[in-house]
Amino acid sequence: MYLKLSIFSIIIGVLAFLISCDSNPYKQGAILYENFCASCHMEDGVGLEGLIPPLAGADYLKNANLQTTCIIRKGISDTITVNGRQYTDPMAGIPQLSDFEITNIINYINQAWGNDFGYVKLEDVRETLENCR
Ligand code: HEC
Repeated sequence: MYLKLSIFSIIIGVLAFLISCDSNPYKQGAILYENFCASCHMEDGVGLEGLIPPLAGADYLKNANLQTTCIIRKGISDTITVNGRQYTDPMAGIPQLSDFEITNIINYINQAWGNDFGYVKLEDVRETLENCR
């Protein structure tokens, strides 16, 4: 009786796990984006005219590739050009995000809003983070 019950609960557990994994591979990245980035870059990634650069369709993000990892952890305070416009306001780093969370955020923004900027791997993110200036 007990054995049957525990086999049954294992099956249910495995099913629930598979369903939750399958539903949206970008779920954690989306939630983290919402919490840590959307207040500035906006929910739809368009930024704020002249003050906050866009991420949606952004040539800078597209070319940054793995350097996005350092921007998220350490911030950025250069004058940068995004889609032909200059931005000078600094962005503070967000040091509490783990390597894993940063990977998920990048993989979310790289494919959100019509972006098609590729996929980054955790091991490459780790290696890049070790060498951030
Ligand atoms: C407090 C506002 C603020 C928050 C929060 C913020 N950013 Fe930024 N971000 C900026 C500003 C301002 C710049 C421009 C920096 C510069 O000019 O040097 C920028 C630049 C960038 C850039 C490079 C330029 C571009 O548009 O491609 C990326 C990528 C980026 N942010 C991603 C993120 C991600 C991902 C998060 C969340 C983890 C985040 N930012 C959170 C304000 C913010």
